[in-house]
Amino acid sequence: MSSSCREVVLVPFDRIFLERSFLWLNDPEIRFLTDTPVVTRDAQEAWFAGLPTRDDYAVWGVRADGEPVGVCGIKRICGGEGEYFGYLGEKAYWGRGVGRRMMALTEAEARARGLKRLRLTVLNANERALGLYGRCGYHSVRSDEKYTYMSKSVMIPYCSLKEITALHADEIHEAVDRVVDSGWYLQGMENKRFEQEYADYIGTKYCVGVANGLDALIWILRAYLEMGVMQKGDEVIVPANTYIASILAITENGLTPVLVEPDIETLEIDDRLIEQAITPRTKAVMIVHLYGRCAYTDKIGDICRKHGLKLIEDNAQAHGCRFQGGKRTGSLGDAAGHSFYPGKNLGAFGDGGAVTTDDEELANVVRTLANYGSSKKYVFDYCGRNSRLDEIQAAVLSAKLKHLDEDNELRRQVARYYLEHIDNPAITLPQVPDWDANVFHIFPILCDRRDELQQYLKDNGVQTLIHYPIPPHKQKCYADWNGWSFPVSEKIHREELSLPFSPALTADEIRTVVDLINRWK
Ligand SMILES: Cc1ncc(COP(=O)(O)O)c(C=O)c1O
Repeated sequence: MSSSCREVVLVPFDRIFLERSFLWLNDPEIRFLTDTPVVTRDAQEAWFAGLPTRDDYAVWGVRADGEPVGVCGIKRICGGEGEYFGYLGEKAYWGRGVGRRMMALTEAEARARGLKRLRLTVLNANERALGLYGRCGYHSVRSDEKYTYMSKSVMIPYCSLKEITALHADEIHEAVDRVVDSGWYLQGMENKRFEQEYADYIGTKYCVGVANGLDALIWILRAYLEMGVMQKGDEVIVPANTYIASILAITENGLTPVLVEPDIETLEIDDRLIEQAITPRTKAVMIVHLYGRCAYTDKIGDICRKHGLKLIEDNAQAHGCRFQGGKRTGSLGDAAGHSFYPGKNLGAFGDGGAVTTDDEELANVVRTLANYGSSKKYVFDYCGRNSRLDEIQAAVLSAKLKHLDEDNELRRQVARYYLEHIDNPAITLPQVPDWDANVFHIFPILCDRRDELQQYLKDNGVQTLIHYPIPPHKQKCYADWNGWSFPVSEKIHREELSLPFSPALTADEIRTVVDLINRWK
């Protein structure tokens, strides 16, 4: 490797980007500059970024002797067609094409040669290249009738599911293929395996896979009704600032939600206000680990025990979160509902959900309810519904569960960067007294000129979301409650803005967001 390579070790290998393209190499001596063997950066990105590119610019590993290893240069860029090569030492593999079509060798050819496969991220898929190009301040790019390289507005997405999937694409594809090939698509081994793995991960005796997170909560409450623990009309305490599903699950069962204000510091249910909301009809407290932050407190546990109330966790947004470094959310109360909606920290490829609990009877009733009310084929104990987790989702979730802690760690890194670098007095950042107790499903900031800030970021190519613009008690579906007043909750709904957030966000993207926010007046 030429020594010039050393001069262009530019890449902090803190992120992995992966399209389904591969580079095939066979040098056992490489030590990678990252914890994972998946390392990449490609030359076109560097070229777009105005970095000192050479054909052999990109350095992504070191040999045993300390020499950097370069891979994937670009020979020429021309109207969208590039000629690429990857090499290791003296060996070069050639490919032709753009973005994901780039292949140094075909998979079959490489397999035939017994080469070691390394995943190669292709950041220069066209849409990706456009983003980099724009953000690097280049404004005149060739466009011809065939290719337009750049649009003026470049978007940093709120959360790219495609890039999140790419983090573990191989294992996900293997999981899906396994189910497709098995010929068994419902109530099979994949569900069994995932339920066991997820129960072990969360730390409960039982896990029942269901169709989605809303159903998980609905089934918990319905099971308590069937078990005689609750009666229609009983009250369930729930935070006033939550995603509507927490409340829908209560009203769907003919139970009465009693809304309690959040704490403006934590944005979670205010445990100082729970006891005064208890009446003789109160049967449960449903806490919601909103935004990925643990809402449980010892005080909440004490109140539930003292008053004989069931403690239900809505753990849709906080997979992997720990209370005081110990038990995970989802195992802190009597039962928990989990959502595996694709954008969640543990996301499926469609809808999915689960109930976790140590209560065997509850687990059995939930499983029965979610299977038409049937515990035995063609015998129906309850009027249930079809609300099952399918085998493909279970297989995907098993594959992704293995990486959940590491993905959550990446989320924490992004959060740490935002927290350490955002410096604008108009913005209130989330407080993080305990890093284990937050898996940052969402990074919520508060700003009393929220809509202005959102527009400014949008004008500068940054997509943000609002979680959530209208509080449940102001929704049309709960028209009778529209006159109620929950000032803290309303303030959060008025001021909350969710910054771009995902484990696949690049350092450049994070920096761009921070710079823009800090410049905003
Ligand atoms: C707090 C909360 N509870 C429940 C749900 C419902 O989950 P699902 O979308 O899987 O039905 C969600 C999903 O967005 C949620 O954020």
